[in-house]
Amino acid sequence: MQPETTTAISGIQIRPGRRIPGLDEDVRRGLLQPPRSLPPKYFYDARGSELFDRICDTPEYYPTRTEAALLREHSGEIVMQTRPDEIIELGSGTSGKTRHLFNACEDHNHVCSYAPFDVCAPMLQESATLISNDYQWLQVTPLVGDYSAGLDNLPAGKGSRLFVFLGGTIGNFNRDEARSFIREIKSTMQPGEHLLMGVDRIKDTEVLNAAYNDAHGVTAEFNLNVLNVINRELNANFDPSRFRHRAGFNTGARQMEMHLESTCDQSISIEAIDATLDMSEGERILTEISCKYEYDEFSSLLQDCELELLNHYEPPNRYYSLFLARST
Ligand code: SAH
Ligand code: AVI
Repeated sequence: MQPETTTAISGIQIRPGRRIPGLDEDVRRGLLQPPRSLPPKYFYDARGSELFDRICDTPEYYPTRTEAALLREHSGEIVMQTRPDEIIELGSGTSGKTRHLFNACEDHNHVCSYAPFDVCAPMLQESATLISNDYQWLQVTPLVGDYSAGLDNLPAGKGSRLFVFLGGTIGNFNRDEARSFIREIKSTMQPGEHLLMGVDRIKDTEVLNAAYNDAHGVTAEFNLNVLNVINRELNANFDPSRFRHRAGFNTGARQMEMHLESTCDQSISIEAIDATLDMSEGERILTEISCKYEYDEFSSLLQDCELELLNHYEPPNRYYSLFLARST
């Protein structure tokens, strides 16, 4: 048998809609004085994306398999209700779960195109190539860019679009930023277009803490890898073995918080910005928040953003929500 031909698909670079800080500025502003923090998008170099993918397979990290099960069960209904000409996915990663939507399109003889949008170019290219090979009827146009720089420069839609934002990634914005981002999505949508969002719910603290502290240390490696990104991009000399991963649920703020904690007093040189970072033992860098929502809070948020809630899917344990909304 002849092997199937695989044509690598390269992405279209999306111009920022507004100026956003680069890594040098984020490091200068976020790291050099306490409270120290970094935006979570810097996790996703090629290695970070690979590690995230491994996190999704850990037994403790329930969001991926929970969302996958909801999509497996409800994609037929979602596709029939929305009948998209184009599926545009924000933060698409491997596009693994989105395959349930493509399978449903096949089941219902519905043809559309797919535009995955992600900041991690190598992951985007690899997954777009796999998807277009597996679904030969699907026209795939990968979009490389940073959605925090706005959505104004997305290519014009090819007909009616279904916007997809999965994985609970909306939780990586704080609550005010999430509202602004959903408003931004809404303002790029035409009336009658749809938005499908995956949202992680508030649940037992033990379940949440376990999900971000897996026994094999994959999440720890993912967290620590951001130091390698800064070393490479800004010619810094972080020693990841001098930091430890910390993650815990902040009940008051209703968010998971992930930190890197210095295990000793140390001085780090960041040559490209001509800076030295002094950290004492026990001092922390906030690397990610992951906000968790109740159904009521998130459905009100969608309504406040003038999106009409069409369907809500959740598993019996209510660990996770899929919201399907329409722009009015
Ligand atoms: N949707 C996938 C991946 C979630 S991980 C899933 O549900 O499994 C978050 C994804 O968002 C990563 O692929 C990361 O590269 C991407 N991402 C994070 N910040 C981004 C940004 N500012 N702009 C575009 N993509 C971003
Ligand atoms: C991508 N995002 C929704 C994940 C989360 O759960 O906040 C990233 C992650 N961080 C640690 N584990 C997974």
